[in-house]
Amino acid sequence: MLAQKIIIAIDGYSSCGKSTLAKELAAKLKYSYIDSGAMYRAITLYFLRHHVDYSDHGKVLDAIANINISFVYNEQSRNSDIHLNDENIAPYIRDMIISEKVSEVAAIREVRSFAVAQQKRMGRKKGIVMDGRDIGTAVFPDAELKIFMTADPEVRVMRRFKEMYETNPHITIDEVRHNLELRDYIDSTREESPLHRADDAILLDNSGLTREEQLDIVLGWVQEKSPTPKGAAPQY
Ligand code: DC
Repeated sequence: MLAQKIIIAIDGYSSCGKSTLAKELAAKLKYSYIDSGAMYRAITLYFLRHHVDYSDHGKVLDAIANINISFVYNEQSRNSDIHLNDENIAPYIRDMIISEKVSEVAAIREVRSFAVAQQKRMGRKKGIVMDGRDIGTAVFPDAELKIFMTADPEVRVMRRFKEMYETNPHITIDEVRHNLELRDYIDSTREESPLHRADDAILLDNSGLTREEQLDIVLGWVQEKSPTPKGAAPQY
């Protein structure tokens, strides 16, 4: 008997390795993976391209009405690419210009209601791993497994630096550190669904863990949290 599918919510600060873990879990469990941060990045890209004055709530609502976000499976990368109005924007959303503005955009109430409503719909059938800042607190408060990830700040800076250096060799460690500190600050102090650990979230500090160790630990938690028909051993 197969274990029933659950919802896995992963929250934490920027560059803690949430998406790495979430993707590996989804692949192993044959669940879908949704990077909720990519949705806020997509909205930010739209606002920048269309010069939306996002201090004006009316203009934000008008802009949102023209935004359609979808995730499209890419056979080559074996991952889902995010599409904005049918354009694959995955190559642009990690640019520094987006990283500099995304926390401000993600703090806007209308933006959050729009993104959260879509995220909730994506979880209706369960079998989903979603990572972000408010997944266990606002999007899926009833998720069977909630994880709050953390890692040493310098470990996070170096991880993000290496990732960004591949596409932008002019980036400096100081720029990356400044951006992470600022985003952590905005994400955890904003009025709308600030980043905080849900009471029932399990803390995972992965500073000293390999990817394999981390995945093994979490698969154990998935097994504990997945309901199985009485008497049957779960299989994955
Ligand atoms: O995970 P990320 O760095 O791609 O997220 C980009 C920004 O989006 C981050 O600064 C905070 C915001 N975010 C959010 O407010 N809520 C989420 N569920 C996911 C991301």
